[in-house]
Amino acid sequence: MGAHNSHRGDQAAFFRNGGSKLFPEELELLGDIRGLRVAHLQCNCGQDTLSLAQLGARVTGVDISDEAIGFARKLSRESGVDADFVHADVYDWLQASAGRTERFDVAFSSYGALCWLSDIETWAKGVAGILKSGGRLVVVEFHPVSAGFDEDFKLRWNYDNQREPFEEDEGVSDYVAETGGTFNGFERGVESFKNPEKSYGWNWGLGEVVTALLEADLRLTRLCEWTYSNGFRPYRDMRELPGRRWTLPQGVPNIPLMYGFSATKEG
Ligand SMILES: C[S@@+](CC[C@H](N)C(=O)[O-])C[C@H]1O[C@@H](n2cnc3c(N)ncnc32)[C@H](O)[C@@H]1O
Repeated sequence: MGAHNSHRGDQAAFFRNGGSKLFPEELELLGDIRGLRVAHLQCNCGQDTLSLAQLGARVTGVDISDEAIGFARKLSRESGVDADFVHADVYDWLQASAGRTERFDVAFSSYGALCWLSDIETWAKGVAGILKSGGRLVVVEFHPVSAGFDEDFKLRWNYDNQREPFEEDEGVSDYVAETGGTFNGFERGVESFKNPEKSYGWNWGLGEVVTALLEADLRLTRLCEWTYSNGFRPYRDMRELPGRRWTLPQGVPNIPLMYGFSATKEG
């Protein structure tokens, strides 16, 4: 996280000046959230949380990383954009918050969050537990098909093993440096970062995610797929599109790189 943020310049000024890090895809799925109570699950360092707050929502960001939550609280203080931040495991927080009288209108999660969840069914039920009746879950994620290929577009794994965690020896990379431009210009910052920690994740398939929603009585109202990637360049020779987006290198099949949905809690 330190490496990621080292490339992002004066973030407090960015938010103080009304900046937002949200992309059109999540904005469209979220709709008007003015005055709504929003839970931002796996909020990382809070940049999207503050962007949601800029839209007039009352936002609570939750993340398991103490470093990320510490950064988010400082960014909120220094930018003057108000949001609550909770340092917790998302499963524990969902369970502890379930059934509270003040429930959430919207739960939101995006871009590299679901791959850290070991149990998608328990997560979906937990999300349903914090939503008001008629409340919505909005997610925008990298597509599980795209994760099956390495940076040279060679097959890393097949699509049919979602229940088995994948292991990555090199751990989470400095993808902010690898992608270049960020929301506030690019600063050189930490160079040649190497993560010594292995990581384990889950490449949940679309069928598994949707089934988990339905089993949690969350009614799918929109499901979208996109053949470009917002703010993330997973393969070599990707072509840059306007708006911090990347699309596939020339000559490779036009696979989906992102998906998103909105699902409503049944009454
Ligand atoms: C790639 S980041 C998501 C970034 C997000 N799109 C944002 O708003 O910047 C994934 C986050 O999930 C968090 N995370 C992973 N497992 C978690 C868990 N069990 N509970 C809460 N947060 C978790 C990590 O700490 C990390 O901050």
